[in-house]
Amino acid sequence: MKKILLMTLFGVAFHAHADRLPMPADAPAAFISECSSCHIAYQPALLAADDWRKLMAGLNDHFGTDATVDRENAAKLKSFFERNAGSASRLGDAGNPPRITQTQRFVRKHREIPARFWRDPRVKSAANCEGCHPGAAKGSYSEHDISIRELRE
Ligand code: HEC
Ligand code: HEC
Repeated sequence: MKKILLMTLFGVAFHAHADRLPMPADAPAAFISECSSCHIAYQPALLAADDWRKLMAGLNDHFGTDATVDRENAAKLKSFFERNAGSASRLGDAGNPPRITQTQRFVRKHREIPARFWRDPRVKSAANCEGCHPGAAKGSYSEHDISIRELRE
């Protein structure tokens, strides 16, 4: 009985943590200016430090685009990601080039979504978090904040 209660409490705490990913207060200005023009500035906790390193090393060929930043901003971004990255063991493998949408954690959290929604014109790509989570840029991934009605619980 006690064990079940503890597990329930843990579940609630974990849930509260998982659906709120506020932007760390130490985000350099370059994070928004350089990393939010083509997609949202993905919260650093969504990838592990090693994966951010790989991603930063390949900005000149970034998913078919050139997202290079100058040396000074690259250094600021690298240390920002290192300070705020997610835990590799919790996120799981992200592939190479690393993708948030390939981490086991992302896959697990989205397992129940029928395939047609990923191709829905409102979504187009799994990387387009805002297609379903209108509050994504502000770090709101709650099940109560989903814009596609069919996906709301
Ligand atoms: C010129 C446009 C552009 C800029 C600027 C840009 N990106 Fe991207 N990024 C892309 C594209 C295109 C994709 C692939 C999106 C897709 O698959 O739908 C992508 C994907 C990503 C992904 C993987 C998303 C997934 O599928 O999980 C990450 C992480 C990422 N970008 C981080 C960054 C960071 C950090 C910066 C700033 C240093 C940045 N991006 C700047 C265009 C850009
Ligand atoms: C096709 C719609 C769709 C897209 C696109 C999408 N998600 Fe989700 N996401 C959902 C749904 C639906 C849930 C389940 C909500 C629930 O039941 O907790 C969810 C759950 C989550 C959760 C867990 C929230 C919790 O309560 O534990 C996180 C974190 C998350 N998404 C992040 C992302 C990120 C980051 C992106 C973009 C890289 C993204 N999602 C793209 C639909 C989507």
